[in-house]
Amino acid sequence: MMKDASDTSATLLAEQRPAAATEEFRTHVLAGLAGTPKKLSSRYFYDAEGDRLFQRIMAAEDYYVTRAEDEILREQTDEVLKALANGHKRFSLFELGAGDGAKTRHLLRRALEQGRDPLYRPIDISENVLEQLEARLKKELPALRYHAEQGEYFEAIKRGFTDPSEPKAVLFLGSNIGNLTHERAIALLKGVAEYLGPNDRFLVGFDRKKDPATIRRAYNDREGFTSAFNLNLLHRINTELGADFNLDKFIHTPEYDPSSGRALSYIVSTCDQVVHIPGAATAFHFKAWEALRTEISQKYDDAMIDDLAKHSGLRITEQFTDSKGYFTDVVFAPQRSRR
Ligand code: AVI
Repeated sequence: MMKDASDTSATLLAEQRPAAATEEFRTHVLAGLAGTPKKLSSRYFYDAEGDRLFQRIMAAEDYYVTRAEDEILREQTDEVLKALANGHKRFSLFELGAGDGAKTRHLLRRALEQGRDPLYRPIDISENVLEQLEARLKKELPALRYHAEQGEYFEAIKRGFTDPSEPKAVLFLGSNIGNLTHERAIALLKGVAEYLGPNDRFLVGFDRKKDPATIRRAYNDREGFTSAFNLNLLHRINTELGADFNLDKFIHTPEYDPSSGRALSYIVSTCDQVVHIPGAATAFHFKAWEALRTEISQKYDDAMIDDLAKHSGLRITEQFTDSKGYFTDVVFAPQRSRR
């Protein structure tokens, strides 16, 4: 899942005691609700219930994103591996926000079959997710070298990427990059590029612009998982911060702007109402039909990807797209040698 790269609060969340993490969450929520327009960060979607709902979204028929990238990594495994390994038999394969590692397993299995010796280095903020991943890989791919890092991307990058003993390939899958603003996306790409040698590679998954109806359906799936996922944020604020949001008086409202490629998720208040959060100086007033923005899911075209690369010190070496043209995994190399 997505971790906010240029913002250190996710790091703090991972490393502080739970009480301090709750205070961090409270500070974020109070500031987000006091602003105009009201907004909250999508990184707070992922409590235990949010993780569970996101798994359901990824399996939902209307959410094409996961399936499209899975097809690329399943059908074009050899080509993707060749681009990532870049001639090396032994290399470290980092993955930012590894989650359940489901898509990466295609690559790892094939790499071992080809006699390569990858060291898989998943990075995730959730210790729980990493433990499950390790147990599964030990069973399915016992020969795989494995070293997990728990924490926020940038901290883990700084710790792990400086190891010069093996060439590096880095994965950032699932269009997690789309949940960052343009500036933050560049900060993340630059942050990784900084640690890449000339022969290292960085694969980023981009969800492409497509028929707006397809995108709108993906963020408003018929089974209602996305709606529950979005509204779960209010439930989390109620349970963790003692707020009194009435979930029956808010609706999940996704929008897609085909011109900018931005899919935005909102929670809209269906009536004039007041919400209280302990510790806040004032109550929060929602006017009828006032919106609270919760997520950006950027969709890309080639020019936007080129522009990101240009501003991040990266050049494109290969691109892999699924059969419907929905999703592209782009392989980058540093523009020039940095270290
Ligand atoms: C994690 N991320 C790439 C998902 C997305 O598509 O933006 C999160 C998500 N939000 C609603 N549905 C899925």
